Amino acid sequence: MAGVGAAHLRPTGEVLLQATDLHVRYPAGRGRRVSALSGVSFDVAEGETLGLVGESGCGKSTTARAVLQLPRPTSGRVVFDGVDLTALRGEELRRVRTGVQMIFQDPVSSLNPRRRVADIVREGLDIWPERPGPRAGGGPSATDRVRAVLDSVGMDLDEVGDRRPHEFSGGQCQRICIARALALGPRVLICDEPVSALDVSIQAQILNLLEDLKDRYGLTMLFIAHDLAVVKSISDRVCVMYLGRICEIGPTDAVFDRPAHPYTAALLASIPQLDPAAEGGEDVLRGDPPSPFEAPSGCRFRTRCDRAADLCAEQAPELRPAPSGQFVACHFPLPGEPAPAAASVPPLERLDALHDTASADRAYPDRLAP
Ligand SMILES: Nc1ncnc2c1ncn2[C@@H]1O[C@H](COP(=O)(O)OP(=O)(O)O)[C@@H](O)[C@H]1O
Ligand code: SF4
Ligand SMILES: [Mg+2]
Repeated sequence: MAGVGAAHLRPTGEVLLQATDLHVRYPAGRGRRVSALSGVSFDVAEGETLGLVGESGCGKSTTARAVLQLPRPTSGRVVFDGVDLTALRGEELRRVRTGVQMIFQDPVSSLNPRRRVADIVREGLDIWPERPGPRAGGGPSATDRVRAVLDSVGMDLDEVGDRRPHEFSGGQCQRICIARALALGPRVLICDEPVSALDVSIQAQILNLLEDLKDRYGLTMLFIAHDLAVVKSISDRVCVMYLGRICEIGPTDAVFDRPAHPYTAALLASIPQLDPAAEGGEDVLRGDPPSPFEAPSGCRFRTRCDRAADLCAEQAPELRPAPSGQFVACHFPLPGEPAPAAASVPPLERLDALHDTASADRAYPDRLAP
């Protein structure tokens, strides 16, 4: 059972969110089923950000939705703040789930075009008025809360409240989505590729905003991205996925600086480098991932792995401790040597600098002009 195993999980009392052995199979027509997740387990401690990374189709969004029970995973458990979400139903599930909010890749299409911003942000509060949450000046009304969360994302209720989503840029729409999520006072924020659809110049602003909000509201985050620089900039821990399973999980520096899984190393080596003299951006990740309908036996990465041996086809590797502190699912892990310079992840500020923007500037220049 590759990528499975629970050795990497911390005691339940030490984490706010824990997913254990999640399996998700989707109906795929003609009686077939596609396996999107096969034994995924992870945890997130309070105040921590776990980055989820991997190629398109590896199961990142499915993992996020499985946490929220949207839809309920085929099997496995999700425990949030000591409550097993998989055991809850109906109103009770919806009530507990308000503590976990999500923002998506495409902010524009996740906002109802016919509704005004004030109503969009307020919608959840009308359903769950008892939820604790930020309030402007400590005022008691829903409007105070809407004002407070809009303010926290750099928007003024009086300026934007009566306007509709099409009047805003992608970055501004993502701010509105974040405000809507925060209005319910969540403890966990799941961000599914929240900056992938935005201009590079706006990406750093939204990431900075998320970090500010995390500190201000004591949020715990599950942060999904396929861009390694983005994940590195924001995550305390990283989980690398491949074809519905976890390859490697652990502290961000360990995973990025001393990758133990050949897939992680290949992902890192394929990052384009900013310095034209540097090597990198190599096509070391040969071929495409196999179809999820025909996942390879044993280790799912073996059809693209230079180190593959007979054992890799026969037995699926479980997650085991690696020398640098992460956990790795590989029969023949890399020795944990520093990744070559060519495989380094450029800091986001440098990427941003390329686009001539002030990434360190914590002001939000994409906010609306008065
Ligand atoms: N609603 C669905 N019905 C059928 N297959 C799906 C559905 N959603 C996702 N999949 C499949 O599940 C796998 C994982 O998808 P997804 O979680 O969206 O990956 P990622 O977010 O990493 O790109 C893919 O093979 C995808 O085609
Ligand atoms: S060495 Fe074997 S187990 Fe490790 S990633 Fe390659 S194929 Fe998988
Ligand atoms: Mg996705």
